[in-house]
Amino acid sequence: MLNAPYLDGIDPFVATVRAIAEPDPVHAALRAAGPLVQVDAPAGGRAWIVTDSALAREVLNDPRISKDPAFAPPGWDRCTAGLEQTAAEQPSLTTLDGPVHADLRRAHAPLLNAQRIRAQSDRIHGIARKLLTELAADRTEIDLMADFTTRYPLTVLLDLLGIPLDYVDRAADACRRMLSNQPGAQGSAIAALTELAASGLGDNGQGLAAELRDRLPAHTTQEELQYHLFALIFAGQLTTDSALGTLIAHALADGPHRNSADEGSVGELVRETLRQHPPAPFTLWRFTTTEIELAGTRLPARAPVLVDIRGINTDPDRSPGPDLAFGAGPHFCIGAQLAQLELRAAATVLRADFPDARLTVPFTELQQTTIGGLQGSRLIALPVTLHS
Ligand code: HEM
Repeated sequence: MLNAPYLDGIDPFVATVRAIAEPDPVHAALRAAGPLVQVDAPAGGRAWIVTDSALAREVLNDPRISKDPAFAPPGWDRCTAGLEQTAAEQPSLTTLDGPVHADLRRAHAPLLNAQRIRAQSDRIHGIARKLLTELAADRTEIDLMADFTTRYPLTVLLDLLGIPLDYVDRAADACRRMLSNQPGAQGSAIAALTELAASGLGDNGQGLAAELRDRLPAHTTQEELQYHLFALIFAGQLTTDSALGTLIAHALADGPHRNSADEGSVGELVRETLRQHPPAPFTLWRFTTTEIELAGTRLPARAPVLVDIRGINTDPDRSPGPDLAFGAGPHFCIGAQLAQLELRAAATVLRADFPDARLTVPFTELQQTTIGGLQGSRLIALPVTLHS
């Protein structure tokens, strides 16, 4: 029986600030160490990181590896590890597994499938156009990370869910607090987001929030329903916010994009940005429910396991085919269709309506930061002018 190599001195969970084009040494080092690597976990003890694509898909489909924090190593502090409550305490897509998870997915799936999302295309392009046009009318230089990348996905989500758009600022504020290290900040942010989710659930609710309520089993409590809506808002905002920054920075990297290409090339830009800069660099934590063998290594029960999405996506020896930006297996991102449409819409509107848009600092001076843990990086600022 092998032992997965232990990488001493490499901390994949540390907070960083880096220039946008600066290579990330951590994922390359993990990949070079082997298909399964041990590191120190932020909440104590060892964690096992999967760096190989085939092994990752095996892990993401293995019913013996659970997302339920109930299986976290004994003694792990929930806050330090960035874990949700257990599935028994707070059932959610991200903590349930097996048939109960599949039932909850079935209730959500038709709301966000390709056909439903395609039908929203004009509306989503309209939201991107309106927000960018208002910003361009307001001032010459705009920081898109401050004024667009958070508001745009939130506006789309609230609009889809049937939550009044007056709540966008409150939702943006709560999403920022979710990333704060201040004691109590996350709890108050979850409370704010679950509370505003309720405003899509009135008797006359026309959006996806009311539709989800009607599709869930009758025993679902109001609190559970609001938490499911919170999960959609938070998961949908955090990732898309960061992806928008990287996408627009790359779209404008070579100066005004007057001649940039058609729908096909916007799709390619979105795909490549997500592959090379996945907003979720790792999956969420998973835990072995029993002793198992992975890549010839024996893992004990309650071993914490992660998949290195970024390392696998950027492997120079990667085989062609789908990447892992949206995960794989039963927990594959339920918002993948929506996210890709939002990104394509932003890039298309920028190209069509603002052909003279350009960065006001050199591309290489753009800085990205991560607060550490499993969080991906986000540009600190993205200063642009939208007109010449
Ligand atoms: C570029 C944007 C996005 C990226 C890169 C992304 C990435 C991911 C990844 C990697 C997972 C799987 C995590 C794991 O297996 O541990 C996931 C799950 C999930 N995503 Fe996304 N996501 C994005 C946008 C969205 C949007 C817009 C929504 C909501 C509308 C959303 C809602 C969710 C939910 C609810 C899950 C949990 C699904 C489950 O466990 O069954 N995501 N996402």
